[in-house]
Amino acid sequence: MCGIVGILGVKPVSQDLIDALRRLEYRGYDSAGIATVENGHLERRRAEGKLRNLEALVNDEPLKGLTGIGHTRWATHGKPTESNAHPHMSEKVSVVHNGIIENFRALRAALTAKGHVFHSDTDTEAVVHLITEELKAANDDPVAAVRAALGQLEGAFALGIVFAGHDDLMIAARSGSPLVIGHGDETMYLGSDAIALAPFTSEITYLDEGDMAVLRRSGAEIYDVSGARVERLAIKSQASSFLVDKGNHRHFMAKEIHEQPEVISHTLSHYIDMAEGRVDYPELGLDLADLSRITISACGTAYYAGLVGKYWIERYARVPVEIDVASELRYREAPLPKDGLALFISQSGETADTLAVLRYCKSQGQRIASIVNVRTSTIARESDVVLPTLAGPEIGVASTKAFTCQLAALAGLTLLLGRARGTISPELEQELVQGLLEVPRHMTEIMADEAQYERLAHDLSKARDVLYLGRGINYPLALEGALKLKEISYIHAEGYAAGELKHGPIALIDENVPVIVVAPEDELHDKTVSNVQEVAARGGQIILVSNGEEDAAGCDLMAHIKVPDAHPFTHPLLYAVPIQLIAYHTAVFMGTDVDQPRNLAKSVTVE
Ligand code: AGP
Repeated sequence: MCGIVGILGVKPVSQDLIDALRRLEYRGYDSAGIATVENGHLERRRAEGKLRNLEALVNDEPLKGLTGIGHTRWATHGKPTESNAHPHMSEKVSVVHNGIIENFRALRAALTAKGHVFHSDTDTEAVVHLITEELKAANDDPVAAVRAALGQLEGAFALGIVFAGHDDLMIAARSGSPLVIGHGDETMYLGSDAIALAPFTSEITYLDEGDMAVLRRSGAEIYDVSGARVERLAIKSQASSFLVDKGNHRHFMAKEIHEQPEVISHTLSHYIDMAEGRVDYPELGLDLADLSRITISACGTAYYAGLVGKYWIERYARVPVEIDVASELRYREAPLPKDGLALFISQSGETADTLAVLRYCKSQGQRIASIVNVRTSTIARESDVVLPTLAGPEIGVASTKAFTCQLAALAGLTLLLGRARGTISPELEQELVQGLLEVPRHMTEIMADEAQYERLAHDLSKARDVLYLGRGINYPLALEGALKLKEISYIHAEGYAAGELKHGPIALIDENVPVIVVAPEDELHDKTVSNVQEVAARGGQIILVSNGEEDAAGCDLMAHIKVPDAHPFTHPLLYAVPIQLIAYHTAVFMGTDVDQPRNLAKSVTVE
């Protein structure tokens, strides 16, 4: 993840910016930079690598400005070089950015045609030149120029912006990535989270989706997505030395569900070259073209991510995939192909069952790859190849953002395999990549209406049994949805392949059994609708999660959760969000310990 900070102060801000960036280290970075407004001009310092490199540079070449922005970067668009490090700037505008600007290539082409010269491979720089261009049309009015530019940006992002000649102005915008404002004494602050601002102020305001904030030393003017002036509540921050906090959420799980647009952006950016619109990953050191089979093993939610990976890899890369839960695979002495690839998926990288089967597969001569969220974990260290998820620390015991980041990494691996084996054409690769780039925005849209989940929670909380159904690649989502519900609400829930219902489980159906159906309008949708009608005919209460219309099911529904239309390749990522929110709000309604459910542990390091 990237980190953003900004300070509109009454004394030189460079050291405070660096101190704030240091508190964002948990977000990781591979380069960092700051920019300040000095004597009417913009000054900038950037450095590759650790924050101490930037600090040394600033000590050698101090910045004196009282207004400034800073950024830590994690390998987003373009290599982690100084030229790609934020802040990006023109003579008039400097910007720090977190997230993905989906339409940056089109913007870049149009702005280049107007004479703008680009110096980096990043999407962020398109924002700099767009605002610079809009300043002309806005008679150099920064607020009008930013508002005009925001209307042309597509994607999930957070922005911090300063302007040459405007010492008492900073503009911030939030669309899918979090931003918080800090209130000081004649000083205003901006940060990706409250942790960055904790040393300076505990009075903070969280921006809402679509907000634009105009900061001056006297305070903040906040405008919503319609442009209307709004008041956002200033609260006392709980952030302290504890480097991960709940932000303005009741639970870590809620925060982590809402972090998904941001962390998916960063995980995808790790596998995809945004400028080229194609997968771009360092040589894995594996002969992907001649793989006879891939064996996937994991536990719990990570196993369900692996199941999605099986559907993707077999369909798009035509590689047979054997998958099993780690606690089974390690004991059944499954024959493994010579020189095969074994892939392990683990958020913690410490799960005992997964580690044990990794060691078994290594003893059987398999090449070992792992998808982990903790790069220093045991599973990562014992792997030949590590494919990281950039989810950041996941505190809630029920896995959410790690799951969707595992899917993002698996999508990247699928594209890599498909290219190596010639089963994904360049045109199809571009199409799939574009679909992935739209995921953060679609996720943000899904999370815009949580009231429906609160209403649904009231009904689900009365259930004794809940079934989840899905066909094809939606089947693993049904399994994951059932796991989420049972592990945090303690309601019994089971996930089934929708086509399997009639082979026994349908005996469970009556008017007391809610049935949650994951049914995007894909090639299996009509068959799933038939299963829905079988359930309805027996009085089952149906909750349809779909991008289709409510009447598509041809029967009464307990609820219809609408998901935006999206590329079918991305459905598993998108449909994970509604099933997470169903479980979360049901558990909240029932008053269970959402972040630390009974009997569970975040990482099961025993057999
Ligand atoms: C997921 O919500 C559960 N907490 C659990 O199933 C978890 O996914 C499983 O224990 C695997 O953990 P890992 O990803 O850290 O290996």
